[in-house]
Amino acid sequence: MQITYTAAPAADLTGALVVLAAKGAPLVGAAAVTDNAGGGQLAKAIAAARFEGEAASVVELLAPAGTSASRLLVVGIGPAEKADAAVFEQVGGAIAARLLTSGETAATVVLDLNGAALPPDVAAARLAHGATLRAYRFDKYRTTMKPTQKPTLARLTIAGGDGGATHRDLAAIAAGMALTRDLVSEPANVIYPASFVERVEAAAPAGLAIEALGETEMRALGMGALLGVSQGSAREAKLLVMRWNGGGDEAPVVLVGKGVTFDTGGISLKQPAGMEDMKWDMGGAGAVAGALHALAARQAKVNVVGVCGLVENMPDGEAQRPGDVVTSMSGQTIEVINTDAEGRLVLCDALWWAQEQFKPSVIVDLATLTGAMIISLGHEHGGLFANDDGLAAQLTAAGEAVGDKLWRMPMGEAYDKLIDSPIADMKNVGPREGGSISAAQFLARFIKPGVKWAHLDIAGMVWAAKDGALWAKGATGYGVRLLEKFVADNFEAT
Ligand code: BES
Ligand code: MN
Ligand code: ZN
Repeated sequence: MQITYTAAPAADLTGALVVLAAKGAPLVGAAAVTDNAGGGQLAKAIAAARFEGEAASVVELLAPAGTSASRLLVVGIGPAEKADAAVFEQVGGAIAARLLTSGETAATVVLDLNGAALPPDVAAARLAHGATLRAYRFDKYRTTMKPTQKPTLARLTIAGGDGGATHRDLAAIAAGMALTRDLVSEPANVIYPASFVERVEAAAPAGLAIEALGETEMRALGMGALLGVSQGSAREAKLLVMRWNGGGDEAPVVLVGKGVTFDTGGISLKQPAGMEDMKWDMGGAGAVAGALHALAARQAKVNVVGVCGLVENMPDGEAQRPGDVVTSMSGQTIEVINTDAEGRLVLCDALWWAQEQFKPSVIVDLATLTGAMIISLGHEHGGLFANDDGLAAQLTAAGEAVGDKLWRMPMGEAYDKLIDSPIADMKNVGPREGGSISAAQFLARFIKPGVKWAHLDIAGMVWAAKDGALWAKGATGYGVRLLEKFVADNFEAT
């Protein structure tokens, strides 16, 4: 969708006209003018719809009187003084959702409210951002869509604010999220470790350095845990490394992603119902790739490295068996009780390698690690596990600010004991109870002393069964905005 900013709407505008209304306030500006021109039609429609100006609520009029527009939308922004960035994004999202397949090709939003909590230029950029995010679709394999199902809205004009620098930064984030959503949405016959790397590379903004280790290199490094997972797959595993050097000489912030491009469970095979969802078991890696893309695209003044452990977990004559003992790169041995607890096996080698290679003081991993996380927190919060209160607070605040919410979970010695093994240094599963926590404890055994570490279990957040304010059902892009904000607020030079 093409976004244009202008000072005032064209007198002879075509397509949809969108005006805004605050909660508990009379119509002002364009809304009042349009109502007058239409002989009170808008006010009548608002009353009939029992519209109260709630944020992102919409009343739609077809063939409105007194305007050249073919359609008129009045969109609520809630109480004006509370209309912040999140509200304007939701408003943009509501406009896109309503008009995307409406038949309209163009829409003009008049942004002329008094007393909103944001300067008009920032409000305009946020509204555009919300519309852009909500307009994302993944239709490439739908070849027989009816014309009425296809998106029509191609141009969004915002009158009364100039997105400027805010727009440029948000466009970089939207591009990163689109990459993440593409990677997450693609089926596993299309996105597998090597093609994941190719996609990221093909999209990479200038200056984002991309490399990937193959299985020979990983074997030489001793990554027996990651390679054990991959051993039943015909696809070669990859360790993707993305480096953005926009800062000074300081050690980079390191982000690590679980990239299981398909998780059958391996020999501990999953049940068939819903197994297709496991194409998005690379959502952590997708978020890390999208975040690096966003930071590079907006030339962030910071050093960040993204590392993604990319493997496919398949059952096969070569696959690892329950009871196998593997040796991780750290030297610690692992009894593989359940081959479906593969994410931690991939992450432990990726985390160890990343620490050896980049000597970070802060490392954050993202993973669709446990179904138990969805049982605990549903689809409202990602689970946050951390060995440092300051880091946990930074991540929680970043998530709160952008709407990628996190909720901190406990860790501790009693949970750690649950993964002791009689035959090896640890086993890869604990009991069913507290399953997300023992998974985090497993990862914690691979964090070096003095390194601040957080693990985000985003199993419930990567994919949505229902439309949201900023996404159509499907890939949400969760994690990109969170990581971008976390890095910007805590590490980026101003
Ligand atoms: N990828 C899954 C976790 C998952 C499940 C993510 C559902 C998203 C939706 C992970 O690899 C897994 O299979 N975990 C097991 C762990 C168990 C064997 C200890 C699980 O959650 O059942
Ligand atoms: Mn699994
Ligand atoms: Zn998995």
